[in-house]
Amino acid sequence: MTDPHPIIGWEQETPVPRRHHFNNYLRAENGHLYFEDLDLAQLFLGNSNQGLANQGLAQALPSPLEIVYLPLIRRNIATMNQVFAEIIDETGYEGRFHYAYASKANAAEEVIRTTLAAGAHHEMSSTVDVDIARIMIRRGLLSPDRLIICNGFKSAGTSYADNIIRLRQEHEHVIPVIENLGEIAPLLSSGLDFEVGLRQKSYGANTTEAEMNAANSRFGLDVDDIWKAADYVAAAPNLTLKVYHAMVGSQITDDEAFVDWLTPGMEIYVRLRQRHPSLSIFNFGGGMPVAMTLNFAFDYHAFARRLLTRLQEVCRRYRVPAPDVMGEFGRYTTAEHGAHLFKVIAAKDNSSRLPWYIIDGSIMSSFPDSWALAEHFIVLPLNHLDKPFQQVQLGGITCDSDDVYPPKPSRSLLYLPIETEDLYVGFFGIGAYQEMLGGVGGSKHCVVPEAYELIVDRNPDGTYLFEILHGQTEAEVLHNLGYRVT
Ligand SMILES: Cc1ncc(COP(=O)(O)O)c(C=O)c1O
Repeated sequence: MTDPHPIIGWEQETPVPRRHHFNNYLRAENGHLYFEDLDLAQLFLGNSNQGLANQGLAQALPSPLEIVYLPLIRRNIATMNQVFAEIIDETGYEGRFHYAYASKANAAEEVIRTTLAAGAHHEMSSTVDVDIARIMIRRGLLSPDRLIICNGFKSAGTSYADNIIRLRQEHEHVIPVIENLGEIAPLLSSGLDFEVGLRQKSYGANTTEAEMNAANSRFGLDVDDIWKAADYVAAAPNLTLKVYHAMVGSQITDDEAFVDWLTPGMEIYVRLRQRHPSLSIFNFGGGMPVAMTLNFAFDYHAFARRLLTRLQEVCRRYRVPAPDVMGEFGRYTTAEHGAHLFKVIAAKDNSSRLPWYIIDGSIMSSFPDSWALAEHFIVLPLNHLDKPFQQVQLGGITCDSDDVYPPKPSRSLLYLPIETEDLYVGFFGIGAYQEMLGGVGGSKHCVVPEAYELIVDRNPDGTYLFEILHGQTEAEVLHNLGYRVT
């Protein structure tokens, strides 16, 4: 079978048929692109859009524009909880499922508040994350029953280790996951009661304990150290071993391989559980894939069925109870809720391989993974969908030769309307990691100011809630770089 290329948009010269659905949240209607019920091109037209004006969005928004669409975060969390509930029911699995949000994917306030309100537990990796959790506890959003999983390096004396210990004084279920043996001492000497986790070294396609042990990864403990750490924790009067952490990768699109890679960790879990009965959560970490292109296919039910069945089988063999299962969902939670819209400001045919369409922002600093990792995202026009298309390449406004899309090594095809008068395009599936990697605030490549942001939420009756965050002004960019304009 030939490797299918990632489908990133419309791949034909003919117009997009009326009411065509690209995926479960993007569709064509009257030549425009709709994000669920939101006509995206209309956002740039302001007053002429009576529907949105009636709902409080009277002003035309400037391009480029970031869209933060919170209902998709809630929907994805609810979907995954439902999938696991159904498979627990079907398989008679005796443990529970815990959904945690991996906040490194997107730490924006509106995202964290939405994941917590949707019932997610909270996963973090740095000292500022602890401050975020504290803010959410004080706002009553991170309730006492929630687990706070502290991953990342937290060596003795670091502000992260100290901050975790302070957080424990405000919240019962703060669970540091030990990355390195030296991380146990500060917890022990804090005198506070902590439930703790142990992270195995297993990142990658390892299907045996020996492969896992030989893996070249800075994350987690090798098997000997897992046993040592478990014994240290068991011997400590204030520490209780609770979580086994087994993350194997990110965006893993083969459900069979995903579970096979987790299996050596399950085998260690059950042996540890025989010796340490307080252990009760098998945490598979991140890795849950999500659609960032249009030909994505992953059967979440099949994954959950395979995972729980394998765990059941391993636990029965070792006569230990089935653990609760936790996932730390970063990309899955947030990729789809983010979009970035641009205007095509020039169409240029300079006898290159394909015509260039130049947009009014930077591709590489808005979606660093597209040039750094050749990662693909969906790109569609917001208007003129009912007109003929041609194959093109997109160029960002910076003067960097890598500021292009599709990514340079890509085999994907990008078609956009031939009509470029007032043409807008959107990148979709960019809500996880891209903003965090590109940075929020500050100065960007070629001193391109940051875009405006529109946060969209919906009431249960379908009416919209809009919040506009202003983009950077030129003066702010200059000030940030040390220029004082008098
Ligand atoms: C410890 C840990 N958990 C969860 C995640 C989230 O992974 P994903 O975005 O694949 O869900 C990461 C990502 O790097 C991670 O390091």
